Amino acid sequence: MSKPHLLLIGAGGHARACIEVIEQQGLYQIAGLVGMPEERRTQHLGYTVIATDRDLPELAKVYQYAVITVGQIRSPDVRMRLFQRATELGFQLPSIVAPTAHVSRHATIGAGTIVMHGAIVNAGARVGNNCIVNSRSLLEHDAMIEDHCHISTGAILNGNVRVGSGSFVGSGSVVKEGITLGKRCIIGIGLPVRHTQADHARFVGGDKS
Ligand SMILES: CC(C)(COP(=O)(O)OP(=O)(O)OC[C@H]1O[C@@H](n2cnc3c(N)ncnc32)[C@H](O)[C@@H]1OP(=O)(O)O)[C@@H](O)C(=O)NCCC(=O)NCCS
Repeated sequence: MSKPHLLLIGAGGHARACIEVIEQQGLYQIAGLVGMPEERRTQHLGYTVIATDRDLPELAKVYQYAVITVGQIRSPDVRMRLFQRATELGFQLPSIVAPTAHVSRHATIGAGTIVMHGAIVNAGARVGNNCIVNSRSLLEHDAMIEDHCHISTGAILNGNVRVGSGSFVGSGSVVKEGITLGKRCIIGIGLPVRHTQADHARFVGGDKS
């Protein structure tokens, strides 16, 4: 039986990492990418940018499945807007889990969330919709990640950590158990986070925290 087609919305570097995971997962056939007008007809790992955002209503008549493949560091807004638009247009946004990741059967992963190579999502963890759980990150037991978050490469969220919607946790940062990060926080790269962070906090270490 042929695999269902999956549309990738976003055609930058993160899209290439997503292609790698989707190919390895093997459940979907990538239909093509949706990118900026100037990206049209460019190729990413053998897949073509077939359309721009403006074409999404037409694409929704043809394709059932989509995933947001735009990256996220300073702001979640683009990913949030695209997720909302895709949902309104009737696309189904499946969760994608790399075969090299470990997701506990006691954890939950939301719609449109991608769990990338080598990530661990441990028992009782809950990850919302449209999140990126990036390569080799660790979400320890009972961690709770709301929608539209990016837990970056190699970041560690210890037990019972909570992350509010739209937040970014930088590569290699370690969040102490039980800590809450508010909504739309930015945690920089390679930092220990020992204290709760308010909504919109920007934690970059040293005297700039
Ligand atoms: C937090 C962040 C988004 C801020 O970006 P920015 O506004 O462009 O600011 P800069 O990175 O230029 O940093 C400005 C200053 O803040 C300080 N700073 C920023 N992040 C810091 C960190 N993690 N630790 C210590 N100091 C930091 C430094 O003093 C820096 O000055 P420098 O030019 O001497 O390095 C960025 O520093 C960062 O951590 N990005 C995430 C990288 C990452 O995890 N990528 C993974 C993608 S999968």
